[in-house]
Amino acid sequence: MRQEAVRFYDEQPSTATLRDEVLQGLSARPKHIAPKFFYDEQGSRLFDAICEQPEYYPTRTEMAILESCADEVACLTGPDCTLIELGSGASKKIRLLLEALWPRQYFGIDISREFLLESVRRLAHDYPWLEVHAACADFAQDVDLPDCPGSGRKLVFFPGSTIGNFEPRDALAFLQRVRRQVQPGGALLIGVDLKKDPRVLNAAYNDDQGVTAAFNLNLLERLRTELGAELDPENFRHHAFYNAARGRVEMHLVSRRTQEIRVLGKRFRFDAGESIHTESSYKYSVEEFHALAHRAGLQPRQVWLDSARLFSVHYLDVTRRQSPAVA
Ligand SMILES: C[S@@+](CC[C@H](N)C(=O)[O-])C[C@H]1O[C@@H](n2cnc3c(N)ncnc32)[C@H](O)[C@@H]1O
Repeated sequence: MRQEAVRFYDEQPSTATLRDEVLQGLSARPKHIAPKFFYDEQGSRLFDAICEQPEYYPTRTEMAILESCADEVACLTGPDCTLIELGSGASKKIRLLLEALWPRQYFGIDISREFLLESVRRLAHDYPWLEVHAACADFAQDVDLPDCPGSGRKLVFFPGSTIGNFEPRDALAFLQRVRRQVQPGGALLIGVDLKKDPRVLNAAYNDDQGVTAAFNLNLLERLRTELGAELDPENFRHHAFYNAARGRVEMHLVSRRTQEIRVLGKRFRFDAGESIHTESSYKYSVEEFHALAHRAGLQPRQVWLDSARLFSVHYLDVTRRQSPAVA
């Protein structure tokens, strides 16, 4: 493989960040740990396996939409763009856009270092004409991208409905930051999971093979290996359900019994049935997401849905006119 073809920037959050956020989250009521901590190398592999599960409709649905709208995306974007993918993971969906867009440069940004490197090296090998850059970084922070002299528009690609993992007010702040980084003339192409029959949602996050459960429980393995946590993963179980009142799927690790775990010398007590909230996945109607985009100062240009209305892909322009954004 042409490994030298990838320019890599390492801004991986430190173990101290993991330590501080985990201690803070376990001390809170209710207990919680942010979903970005799912993604060590094993977590990324498990997420990739989730995408293959028959119940997990988002990946195959978004890929089918991207396949059918790639040429239109290319027309909207124009030639020689710089393509920036946030939470690029296995960098599979981007392949559906590359030969339509023929971008000058590609930047993959993800928090999962080894998995990111493996994915972008594969991409550089398969698309030798493409200039490939990668940054291991937390996309919720300001990421310093190197300048891209002489390039066309910036197109940020944010697939997988990862936007749903933000609380709505944080999603707004995140979109505002993307708007500032992209600058007028650029655009955001974003995959957003739609509200739908709760039975479809509940099945998607509780696959029969138990892959989502393994993904959720892997977080506890990470606490053991990286923070030396004293706990038995067998004492927790995966729980995921659609919370209709909040418009989100919630994932939890539920304590099977009254127990105490130790993390970095601190003790955390659990009642039987008490949980660590590990992920929210907010679902949006097209109208709700357009309203959020407008508030962030982004201009909805086009939206594509599948025929069953399971998933949406939005093209949002960054224009000069400032919308009345609320931070
Ligand atoms: C739901 S997965 C989506 C993966 C892929 N983009 C897709 O659409 O299938 C979320 C991806 O974002 C990455 N990620 C999650 N939180 C992140 C953060 N705060 N900063 C950077 N990457 C993050 C994960 O490592 C993972 O690859």
